[in-house]
Amino acid sequence: MQEKKIIITSDHAGCEAKAIVKEHLKELGHIVFDYGPHSADKAIDYPDKAYMMAKGLARNEAQIGILLCGTGIGMSIAINRYKHVRGALCCNAEMARLARAHNNANVLILGGRTTDKQTLIECVDAFLSTRYESGRHEIRVKKLGRMPDEL
Ligand code: RB5
Repeated sequence: MQEKKIIITSDHAGCEAKAIVKEHLKELGHIVFDYGPHSADKAIDYPDKAYMMAKGLARNEAQIGILLCGTGIGMSIAINRYKHVRGALCCNAEMARLARAHNNANVLILGGRTTDKQTLIECVDAFLSTRYESGRHEIRVKKLGRMPDEL
């Protein structure tokens, strides 16, 4: 697999799973920017870390991000408020594969308390090894960046 730059961060509830994912990414030879936390003993609000992720991607520190919280739901809600991000909460490898192939997701979101170790690794591998298919999906993905603010 080609070396990639990847930002990873979590709240306290995703911290343990983050360490597992980070170790795996390093074993694969990727460049990992860990925005913390480095221990789970202090409560961290997931919107704050999602904001850091959005900022890191906007500044082009990496093209791919991985976010974790307890269920992945809070991170998912928070990160998808930013139009340059397509965050996908994935519970299995097939979801992670399709998030890349069809949605051109640039952030993988995982539930640290709801996903076992093997599934975490499988999701990461599927996400990183799948290319965006473009084609019929492109018109829909483009629309995501142009969602009207006015209702
Ligand atoms: C933190 O306790 C927990 O609520 C958070 O990690 C996440 O699961 C929210 O969606």
